[in-house]
Amino acid sequence: MSQSLYPVSDALKSSAHANKEEYQRLYQWSVEDPEAFWAEQGKRLDWIVPFSQVKNCSFAKDKASVKWYEDGQLNASYNCIDRHLPDNAQRTAIIWEGDDPTADKHITYRQLHDEVCKLANGLKQRGVNKGDRVIIYMPMIPEAAYAMLACARIGAVHSVVFGGFSPHAIADRIQDCGAKVIITANFGRRGGNQVALKDNVDKALLKDTTACVEKVIVFKFTDSPCHWNEQKDEWWHELTANCAAQCEPVAMSAEDPLFILYTSGSTGQPKGVVHTTGGYLVYASTTHHYVFDNKPDDIYWCAADVGWITGHTYIVYGPLANGATTLMFEGVPTYPDVRRMGQIVDKHQVSILYTAPTAIRALMAKGDEPVQGSVRDSLRLLGSVGEPINPEAWQWYYQKIGKSQSPIMDTWWQTETGGILITPLPGVTDLKPGSATLPFFGVTPALMSSEGEILEGEAEGNLVITSSWPGQARTVWGDHERYNQTYFSTYENMYFTGDGARRDADGYYWITGRVDDVLNVSGHRLGTAEIESSLVAHPAVAEAAVVGYPHDIKGQGIYVYLLPTDGTEITPELTKAVRTWVREDLSPIASPDMIQWTTGLPKTRSGKIMRRILRKIAANEYEQLGDTSTLADPSVVDELINNRLNR
Ligand code: PRX
Repeated sequence: MSQSLYPVSDALKSSAHANKEEYQRLYQWSVEDPEAFWAEQGKRLDWIVPFSQVKNCSFAKDKASVKWYEDGQLNASYNCIDRHLPDNAQRTAIIWEGDDPTADKHITYRQLHDEVCKLANGLKQRGVNKGDRVIIYMPMIPEAAYAMLACARIGAVHSVVFGGFSPHAIADRIQDCGAKVIITANFGRRGGNQVALKDNVDKALLKDTTACVEKVIVFKFTDSPCHWNEQKDEWWHELTANCAAQCEPVAMSAEDPLFILYTSGSTGQPKGVVHTTGGYLVYASTTHHYVFDNKPDDIYWCAADVGWITGHTYIVYGPLANGATTLMFEGVPTYPDVRRMGQIVDKHQVSILYTAPTAIRALMAKGDEPVQGSVRDSLRLLGSVGEPINPEAWQWYYQKIGKSQSPIMDTWWQTETGGILITPLPGVTDLKPGSATLPFFGVTPALMSSEGEILEGEAEGNLVITSSWPGQARTVWGDHERYNQTYFSTYENMYFTGDGARRDADGYYWITGRVDDVLNVSGHRLGTAEIESSLVAHPAVAEAAVVGYPHDIKGQGIYVYLLPTDGTEITPELTKAVRTWVREDLSPIASPDMIQWTTGLPKTRSGKIMRRILRKIAANEYEQLGDTSTLADPSVVDELINNRLNR
C-alpha cells in the first residue's frame, strides 16, 4: 500500500466546486437527509412535471425496489440539449477526433439539436414508439450520441452494443431485449483498420431469434460498399433527408427506462442492466459536476467507448446535461503511434482527461515516447476508471501525462451504479496513489465479512452499499428475480457490489478487485461462465475452466484450462483455432491469453471445479495451493503444475 499523500493544491481549494468543509457538510446532509439532499440536486434538471416524492427504495431480499423522483416527468434529450440553447446554442457540445489524426469536427449544441431531432423524426416515421427497444452498434462518431439522444427524445429505450462485439453477442442482445430497430454504420475505423459493423449486424440477423428487428438504419461513414437487404435496410441520410429539425421531446416518467446496457456477471449470459430517466440523469449530472469540477471553459475528454457505461454517463449524459464540451475520440491511444494521447490533448486544449489504467500501463511500457512531441499544459485534472490503478501507473500518469500539475480522480463504480460512487473530489481529497478514497455524496459503503458481519474501522472485506443513490440500476431487463439474486441476496438489506476492498485508518477505500467469477481484462468486464460456454461449444473441447491471472498491461489476463474431447489430437493449430473461435464467438476482448490442455480438472467429490487452485496455478503461486485433500483426484494438480504455461 502506498503511503505517499498528495494534498489538494491551494488553487483547487479555492476554485473547485467543493472544498473540504463543504464536502463534510454536504456529505453529512446527503446521508442524514437523502430526501432533501437529492431533492436539491434534482433541481439541476428541467422537469416537465416536477417531482414531489424523492426516494422510495427497499433493498429487501427477494423484493428489492428502487425508485427516485417517481412522480416527476422529464426528457433526457431535452435536458442534454434544448435547455442549453437559449444561452449556449453556439457552444461546442461535441468535439470529435477521428481515428485518422487529420479528421476532426466541432458540433455546437444547435447542430446537436438539429441532428438529434431529424433522426428522432425518422425513427418515429419508421414506427418507433415510446418503450420500443433500439440497438445501437456504432463506431465512436457523433452519430452514436445522436442515436442515443434521438431514442431518449421519443422515449425509445436504447441498448448500445460495443462495436467490438461479435454477431453472436449482438444476436443475444437483440433477442433478450426484443429490439425493433438497429442503428449501425456501414463500417467503423479503429487503429487504422476498418471494422465491418454492418456485416456483423447482417450475420446476427440471419438467426431466427432476431426476427423482431424490423429496420436497420445504416450511417454511411466510409465509402466502402456493404451488403444490402432491401426489405430491412435504410440509409440514415435518406431516412433523415426530409425530416424536420424540430421534434417535440416526449414526457417521460422519471422511472421510465432510458437505456439497457448488457454486462457480464459471474453466471450465465450477460445481464441487461436497466437505468431509468430521472435518477440516472440527476446522478450523472451531479457526479460530473463535482468529480470533474467542470467549468464553462473546460474541454473535457473521457477516453472511453460509448459501448460501456463510462461512455454513457461521462461522454454523453453527464457532460451534455451540464452543458459541457465533451470530446469523443474514435481511435486508440497507440495509433498512429503512442504519442497520440498527448497530441490530442494539445490539439484540442483538453483540460480534463478521464481514462483507464490499462491505457496508462500500455503507454507507460513505452517509456518517455508517449509524452514526446506534446506539452499538455492545458491539463488541470486527470481521472481513472475501470480497474484498480496500481501505484506505479498512477505515478506515471501523474508525473508524465500530468506533469505533476493535475490531481488524479480514481473513480470506482460499475455499470449497475450508473455513476461514480467512491472517488476523490478535486478541491476536497488528499490523494493516495491506488486508492479510490472516499464516498461521493449520498453513498454509504460498508465492508462485510464472509460471515455477514459489518466490519468497522481499518478492515478488508466485501464491499456493499447500504442505501440507494439515484443512479442505481432498477432491474435486469425481463428478469427482476436475477436482479434480486445477484445484488441483494448475499447480505440482508444491502447492495452487494461483487468487489472486495480495504479501508485504511483514514477511512480511505482501496478496491482489491472482484471477489466473484468476473474478470476485468483491460478494464473490460467478462464472465468466466460466458467464456467457458463459448469454449465448450467448440467440437474439440469437452470441458473448460477459465480464470484470471495478473497481467502487466491488461490488469488481468485470461487463462484457460481445456479438456479435449475423446480422440482429439492437440496441435498448435488446434489451440490457435480455439482462440479464434472465442474471438469470433464473443469478442476479441475475450480472446484467451493462455490455453493449457489437460487430462483433468481439480474437482471436489461432488463435481465442483475448485477454481481457487486453478487461479493459484495460473498465477504461479504453487506454494499456496491450500488444502487439496478434498479433491476427487488430487493427482491432477501435479499434472496441471507440470504442464503450466510460462508467461
Ligand atoms: O471491479 C470493479 C472495477 O470494474 C468493475 C465494474 O465494471 P463495469 O461494470 O464494466 O464498469 C466499469 C466502469 C465503471 C467494478 O466492479 N472498477 C471500476 N472502477 C474501478 C474498479 N476497480 C478499482 N478501481 C476503480 N477505480
